[in-house]
Amino acid sequence: MKSTFTLAAATLVFAASVAFAQPPSGTPAVPPVKGEGQPSPPAPAGRNLQVFPADVPQRNLMNAMQAFTAALGVNCSHCHVPGNFASDDNPRKNIARGMMRMTWQLNNQTLPAIEGLGETRVSCATCHRGAAVPALEPRPTPPGALPKQ
Ligand code: HEC
Ligand code: HEC
Repeated sequence: MKSTFTLAAATLVFAASVAFAQPPSGTPAVPPVKGEGQPSPPAPAGRNLQVFPADVPQRNLMNAMQAFTAALGVNCSHCHVPGNFASDDNPRKNIARGMMRMTWQLNNQTLPAIEGLGETRVSCATCHRGAAVPALEPRPTPPGALPKQ
């Protein structure tokens, strides 16, 4: 059971990273989610999407939303006004938009610029690890653990 859950969670996180793997201001096509054959219909018109492209397939959008809830250990209503997903009245929704842009910048600009790092990428779960607010204070550093400057 554990490995099944881990695989499912990894798939969701992957889907989420694919779903907004585009410049925040641009609107290039979203690549299809790996392992899924049929294209899903685009989301209905009239949406309030500022980070995802307007024509994001519904399945990619929902995969990303599921990944957010898993990564933060929350329900949909943590970021949404219940019953009105397009509303921005819950301030956490806009924070989440900023977090999406930050994650995009880390993965597409900051991390690739670190020489010798390879393909390291982060997701919401990298920092949040199942918590709505990540641990902000570092654990006390044992003496001698830091390299000499
Ligand atoms: C961590 C915050 C967060 C969580 C949790 C979350 N969402 Fe979202 N959701 C967002 C953000 C941010 C957007 C807008 C993205 C954009 O602007 O491109 C969004 C957009 C949406 C939209 C599109 C609304 C529109 O404009 O038409 C739907 C539908 C949606 N979410 C459903 C869900 C569902 C269902 C869940 C629970 C499974 C969920 N969300 C959980 C942050 C969240
Ligand atoms: C580099 C680390 C990092 C990444 C990656 C990250 N976050 Fe965060 N996030 C934080 C920190 C730190 C805070 C807490 C800020 C504070 O409260 O002072 C936070 C706070 C939030 C909050 C506000 C929580 C609250 O209740 O106040 C939301 C919503 C959120 N993040 C969503 C996301 C989503 C969605 C993603 C992925 C798209 C994401 N975060 C990726 C570090 C990160």
